[in-house]
Amino acid sequence: MISKDDLNIVPIERAFTIPANWYFSSELYQLEQLQLFSGNWIYVGHRNQLKKTSSLTLQIGKEPIIVFENKSGEIKAFINVCRHRGGPLCLRRGSKDVLQCQYHGWTYTSEGDLRGVPEFDRVELFDKSDFKLVELDVFEWSGLLFIRTQSDTFNDIKQTCAHIQSEIGSIDLSRFEFSERVSYPIHCNWKVYIDNYLEGYHIPHVHPELNKLLDYRTYRTKTAAFHSLQYSQFKEGDSIYGSGNADDQAFYYFLYPNCMLNILPSRLQVNIVEPVDEQHCIVHFDYFYDRAEYDDARILADKNYSEFVQKEDEDICEQVQKGLQSQTYHQGRFSVKQEQGVYHFQSLLKQNYSKLLSR
Ligand code: FES
Ligand SMILES: [Fe+2]
Repeated sequence: MISKDDLNIVPIERAFTIPANWYFSSELYQLEQLQLFSGNWIYVGHRNQLKKTSSLTLQIGKEPIIVFENKSGEIKAFINVCRHRGGPLCLRRGSKDVLQCQYHGWTYTSEGDLRGVPEFDRVELFDKSDFKLVELDVFEWSGLLFIRTQSDTFNDIKQTCAHIQSEIGSIDLSRFEFSERVSYPIHCNWKVYIDNYLEGYHIPHVHPELNKLLDYRTYRTKTAAFHSLQYSQFKEGDSIYGSGNADDQAFYYFLYPNCMLNILPSRLQVNIVEPVDEQHCIVHFDYFYDRAEYDDARILADKNYSEFVQKEDEDICEQVQKGLQSQTYHQGRFSVKQEQGVYHFQSLLKQNYSKLLSR
């Protein structure tokens, strides 16, 4: 499936892109689902989202997850699988402390202890303490919530978040209000979408409108251990984003393996790339705003604009997914100037696969 040579990391000047079949091999996809996603800290959502919905549910690799805030304000995360026959749980209506299975109604405390078991009176040798939910570790930074499903993680989330906070300075991500989530199913492997996010090389060709907005001369990429940053200033006087203030910067962070934080001084947009199968992913856009700066009209303009750019990215990613499966294409090369971010992501993938395969 993966040859040792393909895992070698050489300087970008001499490097090849990862092999095309890594974008459609079902064996590799299984490895990612079973081990890569469970072996990293994964972004699950923002605490402020929980003011609008009682819980967050998602899938990480093979694991369904539920995340919520209990009565004491603690964030709790569990594998979302009832110990009876595998049903999905939700918070009982109006409660912050009782999880209830949606299949036959078993209930659990917010600590994961089994409590209510309807119509089980003739069952013998049954001890509720053998049927606890599986609880997961949570890491929180400025309201952003990350969880892990295994203790041996590849990425270092604490270091990553501390580094980002030092770069964004006084921008406080915890105070932005959650607006909504918009989800886009895309016919491409999750890594195609991430590669595409990580470079501005395509902007003049795929996004001519965006190209007019960004000041390309200020466009830079920086890489760190488990994240990378692309940043650029908006041209002065732009109607949606620019205030004409030369300090207004856009920060586009990628957090390995599948999260992006697009940060402007008064707005946060989080993208999560959720794999569906080897040829499909869903990209979630979560929008957050400082409502003192963003009124309804400005929010609408921001969302419409993001969607416009997203459609262009979707289209090119779907075509690339087809292109990668051509019998004539195997690997490409990198622009040293423009594709540092892609090279960085692909190098992390290689290190991560090496770790998984050496177990
Ligand atoms: S599967 Fe949960 S109560 Fe039956
Ligand atoms: Fe793009």
